[in-house]
Amino acid sequence: MQRIKINNIIKKKNITPIICLTAYSKTITKIADKYCDIILVGDSLGMVLYGMKTTKEVKIDTMILHAKVVKNSAKKSLVVFDMPYKTYTNKFIAYKNARKVIKLTKCDAIKLEGGKKIVKIIKYLTKRGIPVMGHIGLLPQTSTKFKIKGKNFVQKKQIFEDALAISNSGAFAIVVECVIENLAKKITKNISIPTIGIGASKHCDGQILVTDDMIGLSDLSPKFVKQYLNLKKVIEKCIKNYSQDVKLRRFPSYKHVYK
Ligand code: KIV
Repeated sequence: MQRIKINNIIKKKNITPIICLTAYSKTITKIADKYCDIILVGDSLGMVLYGMKTTKEVKIDTMILHAKVVKNSAKKSLVVFDMPYKTYTNKFIAYKNARKVIKLTKCDAIKLEGGKKIVKIIKYLTKRGIPVMGHIGLLPQTSTKFKIKGKNFVQKKQIFEDALAISNSGAFAIVVECVIENLAKKITKNISIPTIGIGASKHCDGQILVTDDMIGLSDLSPKFVKQYLNLKKVIEKCIKNYSQDVKLRRFPSYKHVYK
């Protein structure tokens, strides 16, 4: 089943855009699952849900708790587990942690951040039956600044080489984050696996956003995020109305009382 889902995603390259979002909970997963090909249990949950300053603080056991719920709630999408910082420092540690993750959460695949440096790890995992999604460009687990990538020649060359290396290592797709448009286009044209863009233009084979950013529930609003709703405002309005109702004894009304 997992292999069929992955093959179906790969087949979409050059045919139809691949739709991806993050989810950390049952409710969001159930909704996203109706429309998405891939649901990522992203380590962005550290900043979005837990108020951490960076994703580096996220622990594997926290991710496992959320991933169990997401995987249980997703009926059709491929569920990808984002391996947190320092959980794949070499191929043996990566394999031990990835096996634990797959065993406990039943997720379909894992995601690793990095380019050429992690090729050996990806090869080791994929040869042992663990599907891997890559992640190149801006790498939140190791970069200190939020900066668009690929503006100068050296960076462009390095990111392109990273893309080729990951594509040839056995990964089934690559997230391309915050990469300048012409580079994202060149990568997408020149590799055989799908590129999933976040801040990397419409030329990628698919798109991903952090759901909380898209629905206006997080504090982040980079240029590449299209905010479809300001949910924070909606929630604030509800809570304000509730507080007024309680203060003025309008709630509970007769409708909410047991007689
Ligand atoms: O952690 C995450 O949510 C991610 C996406 C931004 C791709 O890695």
